[in-house]
Amino acid sequence: MKELWSFPLMSLVTLLLQFNVSSGIKWLALAKTPASLHLNQTQHCKILEGLVSSQVQLCRSNLELMQTIIQAAKEVKKTCQKTFADMRWNCSSIELVPNFSPDLERGTREAAFVYALSAAAISHFIARACTSGDLRGCSCGPIPGEIPGPGYRWGGCADNLHYGLLMGSKFSDAPMKMKKSGSQANKLMHLHNSEVGRQALSEALELKCKCHGVSGSCSIKTCWRGLQDLKDIAIDLKTKYLSASKVVHRPMGTRKQLVPKDIDIRPVRENELVYLQSSPDFCAKNEKLGSLGTQDRHCNKTSIGSDSCDLMCCGRGYNPYTEQLIERCNCKYHWCCYVTCKKCERTVERYVCK
Ligand SMILES: *[C@@H]1O[C@H](CO)[C@@H](O)[C@H](O)[C@H]1NC(C)=O
Ligand SMILES: *[C@@H]1O[C@H](CO)[C@@H](O)[C@H](O)[C@H]1NC(C)=O
Ligand SMILES: *[C@@H]1O[C@H](CO)[C@@H](O)[C@H](O)[C@H]1NC(C)=O
Repeated sequence: MKELWSFPLMSLVTLLLQFNVSSGIKWLALAKTPASLHLNQTQHCKILEGLVSSQVQLCRSNLELMQTIIQAAKEVKKTCQKTFADMRWNCSSIELVPNFSPDLERGTREAAFVYALSAAAISHFIARACTSGDLRGCSCGPIPGEIPGPGYRWGGCADNLHYGLLMGSKFSDAPMKMKKSGSQANKLMHLHNSEVGRQALSEALELKCKCHGVSGSCSIKTCWRGLQDLKDIAIDLKTKYLSASKVVHRPMGTRKQLVPKDIDIRPVRENELVYLQSSPDFCAKNEKLGSLGTQDRHCNKTSIGSDSCDLMCCGRGYNPYTEQLIERCNCKYHWCCYVTCKKCERTVERYVCK
């Protein structure tokens, strides 16, 4: 395949300007790009927020991808917050991009999740964009050899995972590949977790089919390989977040590597998220650690999960309050063709942490 993105040598000037880049996900600031900006000129790349010099270069040589990458950045923010809405740490600090608070600036478990999700999202969006026909650099993914069974045939347009992984990783890994940026241990951690995200994405490529045949009999199925939605991949990564391994940066063999802290006889696994610094329990406010605390957070009295009042409020207790809900009710269908409803009020009790 033709090499589409090239890395020119960084000039000394940009190198000096960029030496203090410690966070590899500042590109998520692209989510703030105004919709009025029509990215159709290479000069636009300079005004985009959060990009390191090599990403600006990638932007200039791949302008057509940028709208897709901006969409991915927006989706990372939304998906992270949705996925963690029931947790003490709820990803709200991602809003601060490109200036993160310590929860995402340090080598934490939370940072591990966001890096993995970001890497998965950018490749996901590029892989999908290929099927729209808007990109010159790619089209539908390859058609697999064998059909899944009788009554099946290949059709549609497969998501181009290969191209998504290729271009997505070039863009999102670029900050970690810079010589003078952050500590080696942090860069290794971020690169590893990004790769875990991309692996989760690869595993999310599944068979999707449409039915055909006489009156919906589904005697013929047209199938293609498509990616699951990003929210499903995020749920998978949240499971990995919950079982992430703490690692240390120490010599192993000829080089310094990340090895699990407790069981340092095995290397880290390819499918596990890793972190270097432990997180607080996020119960109390602590700005130095990037913890907002859970005071005034909603909790669920009947849940037994992480959003239960017990866990969310860290045993401090909770305050009930009532909320009036106005809902449509007693709906009637009138021939033909409209529906009328009444408005009903309902009182629900809700709870917030003390
Ligand atoms: C870029 O897009 C803007 C807005 O759609 C348009 O006015 C302008 O002519 C375009 N420039 C080029 C070089 O295509
Ligand atoms: C997330 O947590 C913060 C801090 O407790 C809170 O201010 C914010 O409202 C929460 N966001 C959501 C969507 O629950
Ligand atoms: C609270 O949790 C229960 C059990 O998980 C669930 O059925 C219910 O919908 C939740 N309520 C709210 C307001 O989220």
